[in-house]
Amino acid sequence: MQRKILVTSALPYANGSIHLGHLVEYIQTDIWVRFQKMRGHECHYVCADDAHGTPIMLRAQNEGITPEQLIADVSKEHQADFAEFAIGFDNYHSTHSEENRQLASQIYLANRDAGHIESRTISQAYDPEKEMFLPDRFIRGECPKCGAADQYGDNCEVCGATYDPTELKNPVSAVSGATPITKESEHYFFKLGNFEPLLREWTQGDHLQAEVGRKLGEWFDSGLQDWDISRDAPYFGFEIPDAPNKFFYVWMDAPIGYLASFKNYCDRSGVDFNEFMCADSPTEMVHFIGKDIIYFHALFWPAMLKGAGFRLPNRVYAHGFLTVDGKKMSKSRGTFIKARTYLNHLNPEYLRYYFAAKLNNTIEDIDLSLEDFQNRINSDLVGKVVNIASRCAGFINKRFEGKLSDSLADEALFKAFTEQSESIARRYDNREFAQAMREIMALADKANQYIDEQKPWVLAKEEGKDAEVQAVCSMGINLFRILIAYLKPVLPRTAEQSEAFLNIDSLQWSDIGQPLLGHTISVFKPLMTRVEQDKIDAIVEESKENMTATPAPTKNTENIDPIAEEIQFDDFAKIDLRIAKIVNAEHVEGAEKLLKLTLDIGLTEKQVFAGIKSAYAPEDLVGKLTVMVANLAPRKMRFGLSEGMVLAAGPGGKDLFILNPDEGATPGMRVK
Ligand code: 2FM
Ligand code: ZN
Repeated sequence: MQRKILVTSALPYANGSIHLGHLVEYIQTDIWVRFQKMRGHECHYVCADDAHGTPIMLRAQNEGITPEQLIADVSKEHQADFAEFAIGFDNYHSTHSEENRQLASQIYLANRDAGHIESRTISQAYDPEKEMFLPDRFIRGECPKCGAADQYGDNCEVCGATYDPTELKNPVSAVSGATPITKESEHYFFKLGNFEPLLREWTQGDHLQAEVGRKLGEWFDSGLQDWDISRDAPYFGFEIPDAPNKFFYVWMDAPIGYLASFKNYCDRSGVDFNEFMCADSPTEMVHFIGKDIIYFHALFWPAMLKGAGFRLPNRVYAHGFLTVDGKKMSKSRGTFIKARTYLNHLNPEYLRYYFAAKLNNTIEDIDLSLEDFQNRINSDLVGKVVNIASRCAGFINKRFEGKLSDSLADEALFKAFTEQSESIARRYDNREFAQAMREIMALADKANQYIDEQKPWVLAKEEGKDAEVQAVCSMGINLFRILIAYLKPVLPRTAEQSEAFLNIDSLQWSDIGQPLLGHTISVFKPLMTRVEQDKIDAIVEESKENMTATPAPTKNTENIDPIAEEIQFDDFAKIDLRIAKIVNAEHVEGAEKLLKLTLDIGLTEKQVFAGIKSAYAPEDLVGKLTVMVANLAPRKMRFGLSEGMVLAAGPGGKDLFILNPDEGATPGMRVK
């Protein structure tokens, strides 16, 4: 039976670039959607930028542009990245859209009228200089537990404690540096508890992975809290109906953005929005998300929909996080890799395949091991799959004018390939992509084994073996065609190029059983090349941003970085430390932490990117003297060449001190 499915991936925030961590989800969803479409189902894949909230408002202010301008620029960047990774959205929209304004109001008003919204006055941290309430993330201070400096208002990155922002010692507003005061204001709350019976039942059904359902059970045990869905002006978002100067919290209108994007698409394409969204809809709605946002999608979202009389999601599929070489992605190690950086060096389908080979339907984290990545692409895609076509195509093209033989040389082998179609389909449908890839690669091994045994290159040299050469190579091409059909959800571009080479229409799952006989193929062009080490090195190098060491926290000696490995005096003596005068300092577009410094060291000037933006405005630095490592090999960074390092010390954030040598020192003097 044909299924009708609306599919979404989580909406990326409009204030940052897409990185490989994001791509796990978009690639996972896209493979699933492409598979469903190949099976002949009606499947609509929509997404949007998540454009509201304080961070976006503040970033736009910092850049001197309107939030609308910022989100338009970021949307362009996001969409270009997604397109190059072959993420085939049917629609990409924005939460800052008329459709979303209208749907958010509708859902809010319906919930309000049904008694699910309550208002009450709360006290919150307020920045008296900037005249705005401060989200927890924008208050910094000393951890009340361990005393570490410069911690966020809600949790300590050093000791892991969580607390209320009012408990922070010596709090400062990260926006203006002012000391926050406490101020009251009226807020609107969504009464999640009203939906407890519904949510208990819904979360224990087959809508969630079993492990997620269990986790939610714990949340019920600790009670469902009312949810604060309003924010005070200034805020970039939608004003709440009948509540001047109160705005919907970004997380309230974000999931509604799924519907807004779908609505926008329906209005253009003629798909029936109401058929999909009405309470008893026969269609499916499936959300792919990361495990960190389960609470929003498995509790708030179904409750809001229910309260407004819409259908509920059929499935919420959560996935784990991405690690690189076994560790959290890190800017200093060069493993915080942006989509664009990857695209500058490698074929996006390699990453699609690698993620497919790692993904399953659990919420376990997945690891991108750069060495394993290289080996797997070279051995599976280049060595096994593409190799089959390149071993057979030449003979067919040159000796038989591209014509395949009229019958199959090995019917049993062909059947062994087609017989797997339902098992592989089940794997895709269940999001067991790793197992699907294993089954497909086992078949690729069989195809290569067949060619190794038949040795067409030997037959080709023997008299009167023409028909055999044609039969063996035609068999190889037919096996290649099946493998490409199986891999098509993962490798859509390679599949398209293969379809051109095979001279066939776009492959559907139902085509798999019919062999190509007596058919003329086109000329074979190489489909993929090996991944070379230098490409991976270049990606890592280009991703390194942070030039200063991560400052160690103060006070708690347990958390001070241990002393590094001992070095000899000779090693130390190699370091040429010079007094440098900062003759110019400027912001670096797109860099969160870096300033670009021009340093006069007497004989010459050097350009250095230093991660000290949190502590100094450029104008405070010009004219100051500092100490630099003058003989560090230049490093190419994303923003340009960095020709050394400046020395700084301190706990971090605003307290990072450029060493300020005696004003009598002369630029270029050696530091002893
Ligand atoms: O966590 C995030 O990146 C959010 N921008 C995801 C929103 S998903 C949906 F609810 F809109
Ligand atoms: Zn702490």
